Amino acid sequence: MHIPGCVIYSTPMPPCVAIPTLMFEPVSMIDASPLTTTEYNAMPAKPESILITGASSGIGSALALHYASAGVTLFISGRDRERLETVAQQCRERGAVAHTWVGDVTDEAGIGNWIRDSDRLRPLNLVIANAGIALGSADVHGLHRAAVDSFDVNVNGVFNTIHPALEIMSGRRPYPVNNAQIAVMASVMGYMGTARSPAYSASKAAVKHYGQALRGAVRGMGIGVSVICPGYVSSGMIKRDMPFLVDADKAATIIARGLARNKARITFPWQVMLLARLAINLPGWLEDRLNKPWGVPRLEHQPEREH
Ligand SMILES: NC(=O)c1ccc[n+]([C@@H]2O[C@H](COP(=O)([O-])OP(=O)(O)OC[C@H]3O[C@@H](n4cnc5c(N)ncnc54)[C@H](OP(=O)(O)O)[C@@H]3O)[C@@H](O)[C@H]2O)c1
Repeated sequence: MHIPGCVIYSTPMPPCVAIPTLMFEPVSMIDASPLTTTEYNAMPAKPESILITGASSGIGSALALHYASAGVTLFISGRDRERLETVAQQCRERGAVAHTWVGDVTDEAGIGNWIRDSDRLRPLNLVIANAGIALGSADVHGLHRAAVDSFDVNVNGVFNTIHPALEIMSGRRPYPVNNAQIAVMASVMGYMGTARSPAYSASKAAVKHYGQALRGAVRGMGIGVSVICPGYVSSGMIKRDMPFLVDADKAATIIARGLARNKARITFPWQVMLLARLAINLPGWLEDRLNKPWGVPRLEHQPEREH
């Protein structure tokens, strides 16, 4: 089946030829980007037109308030009209122009129209695909729903946000385009499949990998793509005290600083980053000892819930 606009990748060279070719190819032939790494990382100017999904609470609202100042236009979304409007009002009090869209990130057409309309009002500099949910299940029958719903919001919701934004940004000229950046909200849970949260960690791994891959893919056009991988941040999602918990305002400051440097990955706090890097390099036998559903009910099979 051929899907218009899609290509199927094939490797015309066998690995014994391809690997030495890549090793000895001049760097300029491997990386077609017109920007050096230093230029690319120094790229973003101060964003003045910023779109954030999931800004009605938690990290998203903290980010909106962080960026809110005179001269800045914010486009923020969420499903809860009242909470979203409160955040928008707080942004206006800080001098920003704030527009809201009440909608679901799984509504592909709705969010696409909102992003295109926002860009027409003021060309977007920074789009943060932040909206997300943390779903789990303590019983086997709930696994399917948790996984499907998590991927719907955390993965498809991110695609529905970043693809229209990329189409708009990549349509600008000349290349490298000026001040165009995309941020994908993943999680430190996306570093490894965790027994504590299979659906959540897998959905976050998917967007983490997608964002990392996209960064390399669109770099030649000068568009920045960053992946955000927080540890625990106090928000609507995190209701109790957790190890290395970061306040949402502090998280917004760290994220904004990372985005201003066009960092590939923004993983914080440093203790969690260290643990995540260690975790992905564990041998299988040690992973088996550590990867348990710490702090959440063990997965059960409950026959009385069978349909
Ligand atoms: N808190 C943490 O420890 C932590 C750590 C790592 C990553 N993250 C990620 O950070 C992001 C923000 O989470 P948070 O911690 O700030 O949680 P939060 O306070 O629960 O905020 C989630 C936001 O996403 C929105 N949202 C959820 N589902 C949506 C949907 N289907 N359509 C549109 N908007 C939707 C919510 O809007 P409404 O409430 O209006 O529906 C809300 O604004 C998520 O992607 C989360 O996975 C959080």
